[in-house]
Amino acid sequence: MERVSSRTYSCNALHREHKGEEVILLGWVQSIRDHGGLCFIDLRDREGITQLVLDPQRFSSEIGRLKPESVIEIHGNVCLRPTETINPALPTGEIEVTVTQLILHNLCQTLPFPLDEKAENVSEDLRLTYRYLDLRRKPNQDRLRLRHRASQTIRHYLDQQGFFEVELPTLFKSTPEGAREFLVPSRLNPGYCYALTQSPQQYKQMLMVAGIERYFSFARCFRDEDLRADRQPEFTQIDLECSFINREELYALIEGLLATVWKTCLGITLPTPLQRLPFQEAMNRFGSDKPDLRFGIELQDVTEIFKNSAFQVFAKVAQKGGSIKVLKVEKFADMTASELASLEQVAKHHGAQGLAFIKIKADEWKSPFAKFLSEHEKQALSQQLHVQTNDSLFFMADTWERACNILGKVRLEIAEILKRRGTLTISDQDYRFLWVVDFPLLTYDEEQKKFVATHHPFTAPVAKDIPLLKTHPHQVRGQHYDLVLNGIELGGGSIRIHDPELQRFIFEHIIQIPHDIVEDRFGYMLRAFSFGAPPHGGIALGLDRLVALMAGTHSIRDVIAFPKTQKGQDLMSMSPGTVTAQQLADLGLRYLPNVPSS
Ligand code: AMO
Ligand code: AMP
Repeated sequence: MERVSSRTYSCNALHREHKGEEVILLGWVQSIRDHGGLCFIDLRDREGITQLVLDPQRFSSEIGRLKPESVIEIHGNVCLRPTETINPALPTGEIEVTVTQLILHNLCQTLPFPLDEKAENVSEDLRLTYRYLDLRRKPNQDRLRLRHRASQTIRHYLDQQGFFEVELPTLFKSTPEGAREFLVPSRLNPGYCYALTQSPQQYKQMLMVAGIERYFSFARCFRDEDLRADRQPEFTQIDLECSFINREELYALIEGLLATVWKTCLGITLPTPLQRLPFQEAMNRFGSDKPDLRFGIELQDVTEIFKNSAFQVFAKVAQKGGSIKVLKVEKFADMTASELASLEQVAKHHGAQGLAFIKIKADEWKSPFAKFLSEHEKQALSQQLHVQTNDSLFFMADTWERACNILGKVRLEIAEILKRRGTLTISDQDYRFLWVVDFPLLTYDEEQKKFVATHHPFTAPVAKDIPLLKTHPHQVRGQHYDLVLNGIELGGGSIRIHDPELQRFIFEHIIQIPHDIVEDRFGYMLRAFSFGAPPHGGIALGLDRLVALMAGTHSIRDVIAFPKTQKGQDLMSMSPGTVTAQQLADLGLRYLPNVPSS
């Protein structure tokens, strides 16, 4: 192996002023063009590209062997390009380097896929198998650069705001709330397991009891969930917690952080303060607790109109205290059968019995339930919804929450259809942030037949709602807030409970965790709260989602160096992998026979 010389410049640095200089460059061969009399190589490093010129006779043996993506070192002289060959698209487009010495550091074999634009059409599995090649491509380099810049900006901002960066453990213990966990058997404590932290929630609260006052970290979090474009089994949170803070101060702190990141990394001025929407209103208008505000098409409530309808499906729901929600889509009466089918499929996928619709035609209202619609109902709908010829209406009758939720999903699918039709444009550069606030503290879980924490059980109730905990638990609002951007939940947090009595009451009497389990899982926390716990609150922002939205990509895999696939695998290293019987035995474990492997 040849000794590597110190590079004198990056491949993006040389221009007209460097004419005549002797330089040393190191990088990857992007392309080789042999023009007979002269050979050109585009040399690439992380920063950019420089054109090299070689005498094909002098370097015939090297040129004969070189392949794209080989790593070379060159020594040479900077020359001005002839005017007609200047490339204004490249920062180094005015010069080229005439090579006097070429050292081949690593010869690249034939690539499994091309690293140019054509790579976008290669299957993601192949690209992830060779992720180290995929990452060499400019779009990926740019995204990791953006992630780095955002991370550094956030660190700096939080430092300026008086936060201490503190690393917290990832080996924690299993807790009964939240997502499914990854367990780690403890060799030193046979029969006991750690759980990887879903988030450092309890530790960061302990830091507040410890008097740290302002904490942040880039926390690795682990959740064994079903994966989607915006979910990975391991991901990063910008996690923070503050003592003596109220909701307003926290909103301002995070708005300052976002404004700084958007300005520094994207050059965009974010208008602050951000919009706020109570949970109830978000559900009523958009059918979602993370509404995409880049387009209208809002839900409306027409329960009253159908209270005594001849259409039994609606009348029954209305009489039983459910809701009938409707979406009006202008100029959509010409929807195709396949467009309708895709909407019905979305509704059914989310648990709907059906998706009733009406097409408003000039001469009639066309609908599968037209024969049940009275003149009075038509008139009431026309009036409330300002119906016009060629509009379409979509109805969902169910409990309030399900009707909103399902129609919210239908709303998003309608936007997709209108985008395909070209009648709606939604830009990734249109950043519609909002705070969703006033969540109910508790949600009734039909399966478990009890209340569960809407967010997590450490969230403080709104102070004046505390008396309702015993009498009307479902009416108690939590001091919880979600940060939403363009239909994606970017972050969530809350003001916490710091009173041990209230915390114990919520654990044991409201979400009904048995006393001994509370002692086992949370005993230390309740004890800590009795030794001088400051009022505190915080938030965690999903860094992967934040950077993906900034980069204008819909998959967080695009902004993670080594992401996992839908099946939770790293195709490059082929993990997870098998372990030996001995390794299992050391942990006191063995696989049960007949357990399906997938
Ligand atoms: P929460 O569970 O809402 O709150 O998580 C905070 C943010 O983390 C991101 N996120 C994810 N990103 C990628 N893949 C995942 N599987 C994933 N799951 C969550 C989201 C989410 O908004 N400890 C609390 C925060 C607090 O109360 O301070 C927590 O973890 O962007
Ligand atoms: P049916 O009388 O059951 O054929 O239903 C008539 C129309 O109402 C069909 O288009 C169904 O898809 C739709 N539908 C059925 N149940 C509901 C519901 N709960 N909410 C909205 N539409 C429904």
